[in-house]
Amino acid sequence: MRSLRTAAIAVIVLAPTIAQGQTVADAEAGKKLALNVCAQCHFVAESQTTIPRSDAPPFDEIAADPAVTELGLRVFLQTPHRNMPDLHLSRQETDDVIGFILNMKAQAGGK
Ligand code: HEC
Repeated sequence: MRSLRTAAIAVIVLAPTIAQGQTVADAEAGKKLALNVCAQCHFVAESQTTIPRSDAPPFDEIAADPAVTELGLRVFLQTPHRNMPDLHLSRQETDDVIGFILNMKAQAGGK
């Protein structure tokens, strides 16, 4: 039982870094990051304790926008923005948070 659990943890820890030089989005980590960082301004999830700013679009709206694509999010998050601070996300963090938003998109039925 114990070794099974250890193996499961190893898979969870190692999975995102398996591909050489490439990162794999971890939507769960992305959600955590979003709740820690993005939720200072955006509505991210019901569980957040911070009050979103009215000028920052809620994540469920971003996810539901058909114009929002993985590439668009990547470009957006990697370039400085007028009303958004430079967040200095690592590549893995960028992938994770995009994975999280795209997951919401999928759950919204791809709308
Ligand atoms: C300090 C406040 C602040 C933080 C922190 C912040 N944002 Fe934003 N974000 C904004 C504001 C304000 C806008 C609207 C910008 C505009 O319209 O010019 C925005 C816009 C966006 C958009 C564009 C939405 C669209 O429809 O074009 C995306 C995507 C986005 N934020 C993602 C994120 C992610 C992901 C994080 C966390 C990693 C984050 N933001 C953290 C304030 C913030």
